[in-house]
Amino acid sequence: MTEFVKLIYGEKEYQLPVIEGTEGEKAIDISKLRAQSGLITLDTGYGNTGSCTSVITFMDGEKGILRYRGIPVEQLAEQSTFKETAYLLIHGKLPTQKELTDFSVLLNDNSLVHEDMRAFYENYPRSSHPMGILSSMVNALRSFYPELLNLEEEINMTVTRLLSKVRTLAAMSYKISRGHKMVYPRPDLAYSANFLNMMFDSPVRPYDIDPVVVKALSVFWILHADHEQNCSTSAVRMVGSARVTLYAAISAGIAALWGPLHGGANQAVIDMLTHIAENKNMKQAIERAKDKKDPFRLMGFGHRVYKTFDPRMKIMKKMCDSLLEKLNISDPLLDVAKDLEEIALKDAYFIDHNLYPNVDFYAGIVLRAIGIPTNMFTVMFAIGRLPGWIAQWKESQDDPNWKLCRPRQIYTGPPETDYVPIGER
Ligand code: SDX
Repeated sequence: MTEFVKLIYGEKEYQLPVIEGTEGEKAIDISKLRAQSGLITLDTGYGNTGSCTSVITFMDGEKGILRYRGIPVEQLAEQSTFKETAYLLIHGKLPTQKELTDFSVLLNDNSLVHEDMRAFYENYPRSSHPMGILSSMVNALRSFYPELLNLEEEINMTVTRLLSKVRTLAAMSYKISRGHKMVYPRPDLAYSANFLNMMFDSPVRPYDIDPVVVKALSVFWILHADHEQNCSTSAVRMVGSARVTLYAAISAGIAALWGPLHGGANQAVIDMLTHIAENKNMKQAIERAKDKKDPFRLMGFGHRVYKTFDPRMKIMKKMCDSLLEKLNISDPLLDVAKDLEEIALKDAYFIDHNLYPNVDFYAGIVLRAIGIPTNMFTVMFAIGRLPGWIAQWKESQDDPNWKLCRPRQIYTGPPETDYVPIGER
């Protein structure tokens, strides 16, 4: 039985339906509010506004829950691979062995990029940030691989092609930025191992593929694979609503993720921890983070939705300890991070503001142990989030109720004003 809320405005009373989600979360459906009452709502930053219904990912920010297609992220991190989790997000179910084998063949067969794309990289300034390069190259794919989006199998080919090539594009930016020849993907390597080999193999020092490192990267990407309507996913949906190409929508998502308040935080956390380690100024950093007049924020802390521990952070932190131990690495920044977490979590400011470490707080330590350069950290986040972006894009494109996204506003500028010719100003 549908619930309603009553809105009393002036002499009139309006009934607005309440919709309920699978886990009991409720929303007022205001899709007819303006037509009925002439009113719109205002919610800067959309903290109280749902943009869509979705069957892909469920988050509970109060309980620290994250599930992809109903499966807890903890189980996927423990038992699945990134390739299988990508299939789950995009196709809505765990693959059978045959489906997974067919998916692997399609990923392998589409892992090369057109040789002419090398010219783009070679003409990019060597100091360019890899996120800027990746956003451009994904958009450029359209010129080499015109999209096929009519039949289901064409869509499947297009999204799998992008999922495969993103690794090659990312590794190319690293190799070419160092003046090295690119390393081609290999048919005998699975998704994560292939990326690592493209990044670190060299004619003078063959890359030793360590299963421990491959597993850590696969778990890292599983933890980043989707996160419902975050900033970059909303960018993909918003841009995709204009019916642009998939590549253009994903390129917009990469650009949004680059921001230091969003995916760029993993790089900003390492910069912050390094600065604290070098200057031994942890207490000053915490005081600065609490000072309203100071724009400094504790990077890797806080979240728009999680008001308790980010479940991904717990797994990432545990992985830091196990990975560094297995690789016999001692990273001083891990100790700084743990001390910072311990002090902050006892501080009334962070407790009162419900500020906990998020997925980015320990992510950089894992990536450093794997050997990823700091300026590639957010690229690693983007590769992990790609299946989520694709799944959310597909869902929005397939939604019969989906339309061009076009929010309204409340105008607070000057009233009607006449033009003044320049001679009279
Ligand atoms: C990601 O949305 C997602 O799902 C994103 C993500 C994903 O998987 O897609 O989870 C990935 O982006 C994680 C977040 C990474 N960003 C950072 O770690 C950057 C540091 N964090 C902050 O910038 C901040 O916490 C945000 C932007 C992440 C969230 O901020 P909100 O929820 O918009 O809250 P706010 O900025 O309005 O802050 C509320 C209060 C403010 O104080 P008051 O003015 O109310 O007194 O909390 C304070 C803020 O000053 N605050 C912080 C803080 N974060 C919030 N104070 C110090 N340090 C911080 N990190």
